[in-house]
Amino acid sequence: MESKVKGRIEKKIEKLINKMTLEEKVSMIHGNGLFATAGIERLNIPRLKMSDGPMGVRKDYYNDKWEDLDNNDDFVTYFPCYAALAASFNEELSYEFGNALGEEARGRGKDIILAPGISIVRTPLCGRNFEYMSEDPLLISKMAVPFIKGVQENDVAACVKHFAVNNQETQRMTVNVEVNDRALNEIYFPGFKASVQEGDSYSIMGAYNKLRGEHCSHNNYLLNKVLKQDWKYEGVVISDWGAVHDTTQAAKNGLDIEMNVKSNFDEYYMASPLIEKIKSGEIKEEVINDKIKRILKLMFKINMIDSDREKGSYNTIEHRNIALKVAEESIVLLKNERNILPLNDNKIKTIAVIGQNAINIHSTGGDSAQIKALYEVSPLMGIKMRLGGNTEITYSKGYSNIEQDRESLIVQAVKAAKNAQVAIIIGGLTHDDDSEGHDRIDMKLPFGQDELIKRVLEANKNTVVVILSGSPVEMESFIDDAPSVVQCWYAGMEGGYAMAKVLFGDINPSGKLPVTFPKKLEQSPSLSTCEFPQNVNVEYKEGIFVGYRHFDKENIDPLFCFGHGLSYTTFKYSNLKVKTKKNGSEIKIKISFSIKNTGGVEGSEVAQIYISDLVSSLERPIKELKAFKKVKLSEGEKKEIEIELDKTALAFYSDVVESLWMYEAGIFEVLVGSSSKDIRLQEKFEVEEGFKY
Ligand code: BGC
Repeated sequence: MESKVKGRIEKKIEKLINKMTLEEKVSMIHGNGLFATAGIERLNIPRLKMSDGPMGVRKDYYNDKWEDLDNNDDFVTYFPCYAALAASFNEELSYEFGNALGEEARGRGKDIILAPGISIVRTPLCGRNFEYMSEDPLLISKMAVPFIKGVQENDVAACVKHFAVNNQETQRMTVNVEVNDRALNEIYFPGFKASVQEGDSYSIMGAYNKLRGEHCSHNNYLLNKVLKQDWKYEGVVISDWGAVHDTTQAAKNGLDIEMNVKSNFDEYYMASPLIEKIKSGEIKEEVINDKIKRILKLMFKINMIDSDREKGSYNTIEHRNIALKVAEESIVLLKNERNILPLNDNKIKTIAVIGQNAINIHSTGGDSAQIKALYEVSPLMGIKMRLGGNTEITYSKGYSNIEQDRESLIVQAVKAAKNAQVAIIIGGLTHDDDSEGHDRIDMKLPFGQDELIKRVLEANKNTVVVILSGSPVEMESFIDDAPSVVQCWYAGMEGGYAMAKVLFGDINPSGKLPVTFPKKLEQSPSLSTCEFPQNVNVEYKEGIFVGYRHFDKENIDPLFCFGHGLSYTTFKYSNLKVKTKKNGSEIKIKISFSIKNTGGVEGSEVAQIYISDLVSSLERPIKELKAFKKVKLSEGEKKEIEIELDKTALAFYSDVVESLWMYEAGIFEVLVGSSSKDIRLQEKFEVEEGFKY
């Protein structure tokens, strides 16, 4: 049945293409608006309307200038950033987020939503880390696939970005990445491969940077060889905005739609210059037919052409609840000594809230990730909403991002902290730091926050430090003295309320770090090889040893490891069983274990399953995440977890003799943990025969 429909659509597409003039065809493969291609009215082919972005559907612009239309009807649900989503380690929630975003995009009349962002977090400094999910390819894949499916159920195409090795903003238009095949296949590709093969992302965005000398948005190896040939991708490749630099390469190297930030649409590389090259015979017209085929297929898939189409909706209460849920599950309790948290509002009558980030609004920043949020609950407002009128809450800025006398701000904050039972410092970064277009220069907290935190901690031992950021900050100056530290992200319109619910114990934190938090920048892999960020040629010398793979290999203790996150309760792991079953070339590894909630309150735990290859011909990471499971357990409850892994959990990409995936005979180990360093159970198993594929 399905293939019949497919066949019918293919015929329709064929017919449409046959009716098109060269000019009409070309009009479909480049922007004819800052966020749209041209439609062909006489053939009833509509324009393809796109929108950023990651944390919600972006406001509307004029078709041909970067000027806000200043509409009053394009306020939207502001969702948490993807670093936050990834910290939830919750695949179902990722689906719900994607579904809500897709519904908002459709509700706003869009066809393609330029999300999710899944570049690997290679360095803590990258300005767009907040838009990306993780340093780990498995976590990215597991979160991106349901997200994309959720989006596309609304007759809106996802556009997973930015393919590939788009890991820094410094010189992003020109930087050339040199990286070996093994790292590409083991680290940088899996998220994209899963997004197109398992998630069926109808479109994908090429990156600005170059890979091996060729711009990624028209990179023959990436787009033609890897994506379209090896992965059999049938979707549409869209360039990043202004990432195209050559007509012939764009036409021939696998790009399907050229977008740009400029409004001279007819002069785009894949516009008039391409028509000329086709007319002169330099480029064959078939090259374009394939692009049109892909674009029309996408249009049919999202029911843009003669079909009933989902109508979508935006700013619904359901969407706000999803934004709140993601925010709640994303918060990571980094440290909690003396059980300062959760705060008991029956006992606490005076609170000093300190820090500019308690009142900052973040939705408007981050460049293409900016959101015209319907509202944004700041942390201070969230605390007040949660506590009501009987608690005395003072607010002092403590630090400021504008020129203000730092010392007097600190003095006021210290005074407030002394006079309160509890102080809550809300610091961290803003989208001045975490943003598209530039990278941070270091990991330090800006505006004298270290000094502020130190002095407030001296003034009041019951001080909770909340860091709001999209990537790690240095905490060395205060981490030993601060009893409780909480990581919040750019957590959407309900972020401040979610934070308050966690601090006051309505929500038991269950977020885990999707990236390693180094003590200092120098610990980070890309920095230790000096290959970031000034270089125009960046060699990824660390290869596959990105994130925790690097920290494990070099035996470096980070500040907080990948997968770390505490709870208000405790969990006991037991009874690990590992069974392998070989069936021809397939191998199944059945893993089971139990988790019991041994503390006093309900909570959720993210059990992480890592695999170690103990004997290998090539150096392998000490361990790699291969599965995770988030389980909710009431007080005293115990659940058995069962997970089945296949050969991909054992394999590595060999680029030594032949280029292929393989696993070798030998001893492996299953490590089950509450974080990448807090391993609770482990069990070895033997694989008798290797396999190549
Ligand atoms: C960004 C993309 C974004 C596009 C459209 C580019 O600068 O890199 O992620 O989708 O602009 O706004």
